[in-house]
Formats: sequence, C-alpha cells, structure tokens
Amino acid sequence: MIGACSGRPVSITGLGCYAPKRVLTNDELAKTVETSDEWIRARTGIKERRIAAPDEATSDLCLPAAEAALADAAVKGSEIDLIIVATITPDMLFPSSAALLANRLGAENAGAYDLSAGCTGFVYALTQGYGAIASGLANRVLVVGADTLSRVVDWSDRSTCVLFGDGAGAVVLEAVDEGGFHAFDLGADGAGAMELFVPAGGSRRPSSAETVAGREHYLKMNGREVYKFATRILVSSAESVLAIAGRAVGDVDLYVPHQANVRIIEHAAKRLKIEQERVFVNADSYGNTSSASIPLALEDARASGRLKDGALVLMTGMGAGLTWGSNLMTWTEGRD
Ligand code: ACO
Repeated sequence: MIGACSGRPVSITGLGCYAPKRVLTNDELAKTVETSDEWIRARTGIKERRIAAPDEATSDLCLPAAEAALADAAVKGSEIDLIIVATITPDMLFPSSAALLANRLGAENAGAYDLSAGCTGFVYALTQGYGAIASGLANRVLVVGADTLSRVVDWSDRSTCVLFGDGAGAVVLEAVDEGGFHAFDLGADGAGAMELFVPAGGSRRPSSAETVAGREHYLKMNGREVYKFATRILVSSAESVLAIAGRAVGDVDLYVPHQANVRIIEHAAKRLKIEQERVFVNADSYGNTSSASIPLALEDARASGRLKDGALVLMTGMGAGLTWGSNLMTWTEGRD
C-alpha cells in the first residue's frame, strides 16, 4: 500500500517515551555468552540496552509513555477515541495490551487493539491512526509502540541476544491546520516469514513440554538474510514514499529509521545519500527495541534540539513478517 495524504491534515501533537531503569551493558553480556564489547560495537554499534524489571510487562511500559504523550498534547484519557498498541510481545495472547492500557488511562470512550507487524508496528499503527482521523471516524488517536523483547530473546544465543532491548514510545494524533503527514508506504512479504520468528506458542505449534524443551518459544533469526533485507528495504521504501509525496531526499531535514543496528542505518543512509547530520541514531543506547525504536528516537531527537517545528521528517521501519513501512511528515511542535 502506498499513497499520499489527501484528507484533513493530521499530525503528532504529543510524544512520550519510557525505557526501563535496568541498563545491560555489552561487558555484562560478555560474562554470560561468548562475545565482547568490541565485537558488538563493531557489528551493531550497540553499547547498552534497557531490560524490563521482572514485574514489568508490555502494558506497564506503555503506561508511562502514554501518560507522557497525553500530557504533552494536553489531552485526557477520556478524550481519546482509539488506542493502537503496536507490539509483538503483548502481556498475554489475549486480551490486548491496548485494552489493558485503555483501562489504566481512563480511556472509557476509546476503541483499543494491538497491531502485530514486527519492528514496523509503529509505522503501521501511525498509518491506521492517520486514516481514522483523516476520514472523520476519530478526533484523537493514541498510538503506542512497545516491546519487551527480553522475554522472548534466547539469552544463550549470542547471535541474537546482543541486539535487542525493551522500551515504549507513544504519540497522540490529532487534526491540525497544516503540516503533519504527507504520505505512507506499507509492505509485507510473508515469503521471508521464517527469517525472523518465534516458532511456538501460537495455534500452529501450541505450548507443550516439547516446545519448551526445544527452546521454541525464543526468537530465531537468520541474521545475514535480515541484514540484506533491511539494508535494501530501508532505501527502497524511503525512496517510494518520497516519490509519492513529490519530495526529494535533499528536502528531508531528519531521517529517523528503525534503530535495528547502526551498521544497517549507516549503509542505508549512504545509499540514500543522506549525510549523518540528517540521520538520527540512538541504537547505541537502547539496542533494537522493535516497535518502540522510532518514537524513542523522535523523543531523543526532540530533546537534543534536532527535531524542530516545520522539519520534514522521514521515518522508515522494517522487521518480522517480513514487513516494512515509511512515512513522511512535517513536524508541528506547538502548532496544534
Ligand atoms: N559475539 C561474537 N561473535 C559472534 C556473535 C557475538 N555476539 N554473534 C555471532 N558471532 C559470530 C558467528 O558465530 C560467526 O562466527 P563463525 O564465522 O565462526 O561462524 C561470526 O561471528 C560472523 O557471524 P555473522 O552472522 O556472519 O556476523 P554478521 O557480520 O552478519 O553480523 C549480525 C551478525 C550483527 C546479527 C548481522 O547479521 C545483522 O545485523 N543482521 C540483522 C539483524 C537485525 O537487525 N535484526 C533485526 C532487524 S528487524 C527487527 O528489528 C525485528
């Protein structure tokens, strides 16, 4: 799916994030699996990541992020019409983490559901939120990207456990006078589904003593294939969304890609011909937080003064599915 926005202008009017307190460094990881800070930094650029406390589930990460986004937008929970939580690690198979979150926010007037699109979830959810407001079905949508991947990472597998971290980021979407979203591109290629997946725990392979013994509830990844896919799709999806919006790479003020790995981002930026000054990277501090990575990057970019009112922002996500998604927007800080 690809298209330019033609309905009423919709933008992000509030942003908030939450990262668990516990910091896990590369040196600590090197004590439990055969790896080193040097290897992890050279291959991924990651220095540390955050890990949820044992009593923190995904909706617990969502709550402070959502509260901060609502406060930023000066909107109450009861004023939200729709809550979408993009996650691949919900608290339970059902009910949705979105329904749990809605209850804790006092969002009694909101529809609420989870959306599963791997690390692309946040971009998919933004698209849905945009559509609900642009069509007039909703006035205020809360989009949350949150994952607790530490619960599905195999901590004995050095090829994956060094990559991921936990976190949550939330945005409030509302209609604005001008600016906001210009175009979206979403895609999925299920032929690559088995490159990045959790084999058991669903209807195909229900939980059993055998699946637990076989470590089938942990994330499996073909790193080389995912690397090839990620470097290719970051470029092609970004180019597609720019083309449909009638804009050029040179117009982009800030490129905020999914923070999978610094090497992947640098590779894509080089091929897109976007110099590092226009690329935001914080994977070094958080690792790959899946659906939370783009809002966490937006928050850090804003805090460091790199995300300003009127900036043309390009976001691209990619992940399990395999899925990808981009959007182009004019940031409208303080213009609602
Ligand atoms: N420490 C030390 N050595 C390691 C580690 C580690 N943590 N992990 C793997 N190795 C070893 C391998 O065993 C291999 O050893 P061998 O040659 O003796 O067999 C060697 O390092 C090279 O392994 P490769 O897999 O070829 O390493 P590569 O350069 O491809 O880097 C990496 C691996 C970082 C995982 C890379 O493939 C990658 O970034 N892939 C994309 C991963 C990703 O971003 N996934 C998520 C994206 S989508 C989403 O966000 C859900």
